[in-house]
Amino acid sequence: MGAKASKNKIESSQSVDSVQSHHTSAPTVIVDGRSYHNVETSSYFLPRDEEEQDRLNSQHFSIKALYGGNILSRVEQTLPQDAYILDVGCGSGSWVMDMAIDFPNSRVIGLDMMDMFPTMIRPENVIFELVNVLDGIPYPDNTFDFVHMRLMLSAFRKQEWPLVITEIYRVLKPGGIVQLFESDFTDKSKSPLVGSFISELINLMQEREQDPWIAAQLGDLLRQQSFENIELDLRKIDYGEASNPISKEMLWNWKIVFLALKPYINLHFNASSQEYDDMVKQFSKECHKYGWVVKTLAYFAQKPLRPAQ
Ligand SMILES: C[S@@+](CC[C@H](N)C(=O)[O-])C[C@H]1O[C@@H](n2cnc3c(N)ncnc32)[C@H](O)[C@@H]1O
Repeated sequence: MGAKASKNKIESSQSVDSVQSHHTSAPTVIVDGRSYHNVETSSYFLPRDEEEQDRLNSQHFSIKALYGGNILSRVEQTLPQDAYILDVGCGSGSWVMDMAIDFPNSRVIGLDMMDMFPTMIRPENVIFELVNVLDGIPYPDNTFDFVHMRLMLSAFRKQEWPLVITEIYRVLKPGGIVQLFESDFTDKSKSPLVGSFISELINLMQEREQDPWIAAQLGDLLRQQSFENIELDLRKIDYGEASNPISKEMLWNWKIVFLALKPYINLHFNASSQEYDDMVKQFSKECHKYGWVVKTLAYFAQKPLRPAQ
């Protein structure tokens, strides 16, 4: 990544203030009426259409409700009001826009390899850029006060994670903060059908060299990169709690995910398209009936003020 990263870096004479949002459309393929990226080097498998934007927006507000805000309390205590903030893999841009409104004196930049973010209407202190972060983060060393990265477990192969963490470290200012958020969906359910969907998703990720258990390893990855003051805030979403509004909304999210993954997962179920859709409906019902717990792991860490001797 190093050589490519420096090729992509914005000239160091250019500050974050002078960068304009710019992108051309990402390459796309259509499968079963859904639009997916066509970036050859990427292992990511979720779609990039309006339905996916809606899902990401709903997921954003569910996570915000689960954690009582967009940032962990440790970030809130440390973040300057006029911070330079970066969101890696910003998706539909909802976290970026929400943060830009909460911190009007900050500058918030969202990077994604697919253009699902708003192109016209957004707060003035927001920039979106079409960037494949596996080619490096196109900013000079020591640029940002805060880097956020959320739900990228199906974006990177296991061996790509340390490279991305190294890039985040590089672009953070000394003393800068990183907040990582990932989930672990691999707990067993008493429902065989729910179990089959979980197993097929694990298989799909492993076929693509991704690590479904990456969330629990991020503390070690941050430590190996010399981050300090590492803290973990672990929460759980119990899908057996049918009346919990967060569980309800996130279960809708999972339903949309499994429908989007029909071209891959149905290769193993070998059902008709209608039968597969019915199985996804049944999946939701059985989550309520038999339960399924997904863990969410949010990490806070800081780049040391001085490099280690
Ligand atoms: C599950 S979504 C999460 C989006 C956002 N972080 C959120 O929490 O709403 C993963 C995002 O990562 C993006 N992505 C995947 N691989 C990427 C890469 N190599 N570089 C930049 N973005 C990437 C996808 O396009 C998608 O928008």
